[in-house]
Amino acid sequence: MENEPRGELVIRTIAMPRDTNPNGDIFGGWLMSQMDLGSGILASKRARARVVTVAMEGLSFLQPVEVGDTVACYAWVEKVGRTSMKIPVEVWVERFRQHGVPVLVTRGVFIYVAVDEAGRPIPVQREAP
Ligand SMILES: CC(C)(COP(=O)(O)OP(=O)(O)OC[C@H]1O[C@@H](n2cnc3c(N)ncnc32)[C@H](O)[C@@H]1OP(=O)(O)O)[C@@H](O)C(=O)NCCC(=O)NCCS
Repeated sequence: MENEPRGELVIRTIAMPRDTNPNGDIFGGWLMSQMDLGSGILASKRARARVVTVAMEGLSFLQPVEVGDTVACYAWVEKVGRTSMKIPVEVWVERFRQHGVPVLVTRGVFIYVAVDEAGRPIPVQREAP
């Protein structure tokens, strides 16, 4: 188990009561949405274009997220294809009132495609911005 995040901090927020499932834990869909938003920012920055999520792979919910946790998504561009980008995402939390002890709670890989105004795939430039 890793003990520190990899990649770039792409989004940071607080888990709120409205984001819970009927068990009182944070809803997995909310967490996926944060991962999608954060990695989408990175994908769009890398492609310098509009991007769409084409796939999510290997999503694992390793630990529950609780109300009040500080939720941070870290991501990096692992591979650039012709029009697609593979972006692993890790979610780390700091438990409510336990700042400074990050816990890895979720990981997954998001695949984005750069698209034009009509939503058609366009090449991602080779060089980094
Ligand atoms: C993304 C989209 C534009 C791709 O269109 P397409 O006609 O399938 O385009 P292509 O077949 O040329 O694939 C484009 C790239 O995506 C990759 N790709 C397509 N489906 C994939 C999948 N399921 N998993 C991983 N990569 C995939 C292809 O390998 C290709 O990569 P490359 O250019 O780097 O080699 C189209 O599928 C789409 O609009 N999907 C909906 C996206 C969306 O609305 N997302 C939000 C969901 S709420």
